[in-house]
This record gives sequence, structure tokens and C-alpha cells, in this order.
Amino acid sequence: MPDELLRYRPEFPILSSTTYLISNSLGAMPRGVEDALHQYTELWNTRGVRAWEEEWWMLASEVGDQIGVPLNAPRGSVACLQNVTTCQAIVASCLDFSGPRNKVVYTDLNFPSVMYFWEAQRSRGARVEMVPNDDGIHVNTARLLDAIDDKTLIVPISHVIFRSAFIQDIEAIVDKAHRVGAYVLLDSFQATGTLPFDVQKLNVDFCTGGVLKWLYGGPGTAYLYVRPDLAKKLEPTFTGWSGHENPFGFEIGATRYSPTIYRFTQGTPNIPALKVAQPGLKITPKPVSRRSAKSRSGRPRCSSRWPTATAGR
Ligand SMILES: Cc1ncc(COP(=O)(O)O)c(C=O)c1O
Repeated sequence: MPDELLRYRPEFPILSSTTYLISNSLGAMPRGVEDALHQYTELWNTRGVRAWEEEWWMLASEVGDQIGVPLNAPRGSVACLQNVTTCQAIVASCLDFSGPRNKVVYTDLNFPSVMYFWEAQRSRGARVEMVPNDDGIHVNTARLLDAIDDKTLIVPISHVIFRSAFIQDIEAIVDKAHRVGAYVLLDSFQATGTLPFDVQKLNVDFCTGGVLKWLYGGPGTAYLYVRPDLAKKLEPTFTGWSGHENPFGFEIGATRYSPTIYRFTQGTPNIPALKVAQPGLKITPKPVSRRSAKSRSGRPRCSSRWPTATAGR
């Protein structure tokens, strides 16, 4: 019987000439991307400024909902930004490091850009505790859990470690963090599209990643999931007109934050990147249980998620 995954090969033209094993860096381009770019230039060229109301303004929430499928995030809970580092900055801008609860705990196997960002928050009062690893591969979970205490404000961690593919024990980390009153910010860049994965089941407070690797969406679109009950209470200081309740009113004075996920955005969205992200997301894997993500040999096979693909939502 032919492997059912083979039917996806024509979606990725480069596979006819290459064995493509580098999606951890940049996923192969889906064939729909050329059309998506053409639609973008066509709309701009023929509709001019009307493109905003006819398509572009709603695109970030539409793509956010498409990204929400593999995350199992509720509709309206995923913002589209430009990169993961920016997403981390938006979350940090919601936090106050001036009180006694000002500790940021993560491991030295996090993605470096994320660590550079949190290191820089020391100047805002953050006390950063970076938990060392022993072998360059595994996170020492017990050591990490010990570091998370009642002075911890946030735990920004990677789900799948980019250096070693080690999968962190997110349940244990969320459990400890929540018991002591800390937030968990999960970087699922290398997990989304490769692992059975569900932000609601994991009960993370924030989750971020990008589409250019395992979601085949190209550079320029990252996502920020915020737990819906938490989102309403947060006021990012890294904000701008698109995060305002009345963005086109151009009001002056104190910000009235948007009640929608646009609350976590700042300004003009990156429309070409959002368009390019859509064809890959239309071959979107749905979250599946660990049990159904097994190959016939009984070993986990991440790609077995793909036959459950839908054409987006
Ligand atoms: C785990 C992880 N986080 C973040 C990034 C990239 O961050 P950014 O979107 O800020 O470039 C990568 C890219 O390789 C990654 O593997």
C-alpha cells in the first residue's frame, strides 16, 4: 500500500529535484505561494487603498486562526507578528519587574535570540536565572523546577530544544510555575507541526513560534497565543495604533486597548508575509493524540499527523 503521505509531495515542487531535510531551518515552499503573491500584487494594483478594507486589515486575524488549528488554540487567541523575538518583547512589555516577584527562569538551551532579549530585561529590573544543562542535549528538569519559586514572574522556555531536539516536560514546568503563581511562555517553533501539541491542554499562558519551518509559511510571520482569560487583563506597553480599541480614530491620550487579539499588535501588518503563510497553513495538521501519532511499528511518527490535514478552518 503506498504511503498516504506521498500525496503531499506535489504540494512542494522542490521535492522533485531535492531530498529536503532542513525544515528545522526553512520549510520547503508550497506551490500555492506563487499564486498567493500574485493575488497580493493584483489586489494592490487593481484596488489600491481599498485593499485594506477588502482583505488586508482582516488578514492577520484570519492567519492567526489558521495557525490556531495546529496549536488547538481558540479562535481569536493568536496574534500574528513578525518574529518570535518580537512576540517575547510584547509579553515582557505586559510585565512589571519593579516588585519582589521579578525573576525570569529559563534554561541555557533556549534559542539564543530569546535569551538575548530576556538578558536585556535586567535593565528593567528582571532577575534572570539561567539554569545550566549538563550535556548540551537534555534539560535538567529537576534543576529547572527547583529554580522556579514564589519570586518567579515568568518562565520562557522552548518546547523542542533547537540544538538537540530534546522535548521538554512542559506539563511538569507549567504545573510548578502555576503552583507558585508564575506565567509560562512556551516557544513552540520547533514543535508546531512536528509534535502532537495543544496549548489548551498544556495550559500555557503564552505560546509563540513562527510559520517558516514546519508550517511551510515562509519568513515574516510569527504567532503569539495568549490564554483568552488572561489576554483581557494584560496591557502591553509595547503597543501602537493597531492595538487600540479604535485604531482608525487616531485618538490621543491614554490608550484604550483593543478587546480583540489585535491588543497585542502595534502597527501596520506585514501583508505579503501573511499571504505567503496561507498556502502552507491550508495543509494544516490538526492536533492528534499521542496514540494516533504512532507509526505501524508503534514508534511515534510525527509526520503521521499530516493525513488528518484540513483545508484550514
Ligand atoms: C526554538 C526557536 N525559537 C526562535 C527561533 C527564531 O526566532 P525569531 O523568529 O525571533 O527569528 C528559532 C529559529 O531557528 C527557533 O528554533
